[in-house]
Order: sequence, then structure tokens, then C-alpha cells
Amino acid sequence: MNKIISLAKRRGFVFPSSEIYGGVEALFDYGPLGTLLKNNIKREWFKRFVQQREEVVAIDASILMNPKVWEASGHVQNFTDPLIECKKCNDRLREDHVQDGKCPSCGGKDFTEAKNFNLMFKTFLGPVQDDKNATFLRPETAQSMFTNFKLVQESSRLQVPFGIAQQGKAFRNEITTGNYLFRLRELEQMEIEYFVKPGEDEKWFDYWVKEWRQFFLDMGLNEKNMRLYEHPKESLSHYSKRTVDIEYKFPFGWGELAGIANRTDFDLKQHSQFSDQDLRYTDAESKEKYYPFVIEPTMGVDRLFLALLLEGYEEVQGGRTKTTEATKEMETILKLKPLLAPFQVAVLPLVKNKPDVVKKAREVFDMLKVNFSCQYDEAGAIGRRYRRGDEIGTVVSVTIDFDTIKDDTVTIRDRDTMAQIRVSIPRLVETISALLQGVDFKSLGYPIL
Ligand code: GAP
Repeated sequence: MNKIISLAKRRGFVFPSSEIYGGVEALFDYGPLGTLLKNNIKREWFKRFVQQREEVVAIDASILMNPKVWEASGHVQNFTDPLIECKKCNDRLREDHVQDGKCPSCGGKDFTEAKNFNLMFKTFLGPVQDDKNATFLRPETAQSMFTNFKLVQESSRLQVPFGIAQQGKAFRNEITTGNYLFRLRELEQMEIEYFVKPGEDEKWFDYWVKEWRQFFLDMGLNEKNMRLYEHPKESLSHYSKRTVDIEYKFPFGWGELAGIANRTDFDLKQHSQFSDQDLRYTDAESKEKYYPFVIEPTMGVDRLFLALLLEGYEEVQGGRTKTTEATKEMETILKLKPLLAPFQVAVLPLVKNKPDVVKKAREVFDMLKVNFSCQYDEAGAIGRRYRRGDEIGTVVSVTIDFDTIKDDTVTIRDRDTMAQIRVSIPRLVETISALLQGVDFKSLGYPIL
């Protein structure tokens, strides 16, 4: 974990929030490379679950909502963790996080009685800070998909089964933090509320467990680092009939990456009652009115981001290339899927002091950047530049050398195998596109140099 945290900071993936002031617990900022990776994760999710499906539409709702929402949803009453205080060192912690009855800070064994601590951040709408104007930063994106249920269904003319999807920030005043991006106080979720006919909910539940799991596999997580966890009936959330988590094997142990919950008709019924609006769905043919059941697949972007860094991180002691310069050095390769990598292409002029090479490299860069996420790098020896790219997951390097000036061909180097091929500049875009779509480097039909 420390290696990932250090790489992420050094190369600009993730920084501690407000670091110049000493940082803040459980808050992080995504840097230039982290922003690219995070956006790629979100784009792939959106493409798969919204763009490529006719029956799922997306919304982008406000984070602050009418405070009644949180009464209806049960969050005011139930979104709590049991808070205890160590009588020896006064540390506050979650009762269910105490192991062997000992305080993790001082080893003390005497605690106060557990109190229910609400995890929602309270704030005020307008200048008067009284209870009448209080509301909360949303602790999940889900509720705005229920409050907008009718508006979305009618405006998009959707029929059950259909889904509303949303990506966005959520806020939780977690009692115990730590484990880097795993437990944040400001996090990002990607959720779908999938509305189905009562009675068909169990079938759809199984369907979404499979879809969610497959997404993680396709994003590059290894099957052996994933497992399903069925919540026992007695520990289900107040709204859930059944919940299955998809867990990932983090360095600190198995942890929830995502969840699939059968929320039944709980939310729509609650909001109907609290708002005095009829949120039932009317079947287009039979005209029957009913509350659809909701299957909710949800995942945290930050936890997936962390899992992908952990999964992709590989070290080769002594280096993969046995040049003098690389010998004895540790080489790091971040094996991210091509569509997720912050940079897909690095454009590298072999030398920076030959104007015709540099000019050609700039032309290639200008051509490629229209289609791909590209980085231009001319600083240092070519081997070092390759390794700088490998460390941040850059999928291919395109090198412009003296022969390029003569025959308009460039070398493409593959991050994972270090195999190299020679390709003519006019065929560069189609060749890189094929690689990004998953075509194997060696199957491209070019001789490996
Ligand atoms: N709408 C349902 C819901 O919010 P959840 O299991 O509480 O369910 C969904 O949260 C996902 O959000 C989790 O599977 C996890 O990936 C992510 N998540 C929850 N709390 C988090 C935190 N403190 N830091 C980072 N991610 C978190």
C-alpha cells in the first residue's frame, strides 16, 4: 500500500487534500494523472451501463436536497455507526472496529457506552442557521433517483424494467478512517436504481450481480482477488431485502468494492408518504398501478481506482531491460487496461537537438492527440523515458528517429511486452486504435523488431 501511495503522489495521481496545511484525514485530491484515470473509469462505466443500454438513463442531481428526503429515506434515523470512546486516551472509534476488546491507539480496554453517531454532514440553506434551514450533504446518490422517479419515467417515456443511473459525490462523516482511498469522508459513487415488477426482483438481482462482477473483470481486476459476500439477514440495511457485496482483496484484507441491494418498494413508498405525491407506476397496457421494486447496483469510484492501481502495479527488481543504465534498478510497470490508462500514447523524439526529428515528432503528436490521450516527452535518455511511461501505465510509446525523416515510419513499443514494431505514420492511428481495442501486439501482422 505504501508503494502505491508513494507512486500516486510522486507521479500526480493522488495528493493529500490541503497538504500544505498538513492535510485532512480521509480527504484526497486527484492530481493530473489521477483525474485522467478517474475520468476514464467513469466514462467506461457510463458507456457500458447508460450509452449502450436503451432502458437506462442518467441524471446529475444536486448534492443538497430538501431535508425531508433524509427523513423519508430513513437516514436521519438509521444512518448511524456505534461510537465509543476509550476511557484511557479519549480516542473515539467505531465499536465494531475494535479488535480483541482493545483500543487500537493505547491498548486500553475500558470504553464508554456506544452512542448512535449519524454520519451525515449537516449544513444550512441560507443565512439563518437554525433547525428549520438545516439539511445534509447527500450520503448517497440514490435518493435523487427516487425523488426524480416520476419526472424521469414520464419525460423519457420509460417502461418497467428500466434504470436511472448517476455518478456523483457523496459525503460521510466516517468515525474511523485510514486505508487511504478506501474510507473517505468525500467520495464518489456510481449507482443505478433499476425499477422492476414486484415478483421479478430476484431474477434481476442475480442479473445485476453478474453484470457488476463482469464490469470489474473487464476493467482488469483479477478473479482471484474478488469474492461475493452475502449479508446475513440480521445485518441488512433498513431498506434491504437482500444485499450481496463484491469484495476485493486489498492489502489490508477483503473490503467492499461494490454492492447489489434489493431495496424492494421501500424508497418509493416512503417518498410517496412523506411528499404526499403518488409515486406509483402505471402499467402501459393493463393500466395497473403499483410501486416497482428496486434493484440497486452501486460502486465507489475511489475504491475501484485504488483496486486498479493495486492490481496493475508490478515491480521488476533489476529491471526488464538489461542495459547498463537499467541494471540494478527497480522497474515499475502499471498494467492498466488501455482504455483506462491516463496516457495511451507517449510521443518520443529519439533526440531533442535535431530540429527535423523534433519537428516530425511534434507533427506526429499533433496528429495523435486528436484521437488519443497523448504525452510528449523529450527529456532524458530514451530508456528512461520508456520507464517513466511504464510506471504510469502509458500503453504504447511512439519513437521518432533518424529513419523517420527518410521513410516516414516510427517505432511503436508495447508497455507490457516491450515488443517493438515499425509502422508507417499514415497507419499509426488505425494501429494504435486496434491496440486500444484489445488486439494483441503480436497479432497486428508486423514483424517484431
Ligand atoms: N446507495 C447505497 C449505498 O450508498 P453503500 O454500500 O453505503 O451503499 C456504496 O455505498 C459504495 O460506495 C460502496 O460499495 C463503496 O464502494 C462506496 N463507499 C461507501 N462508503 C465509502 C467511503 N467512506 N469511502 C469510499 N468509498 C465508499
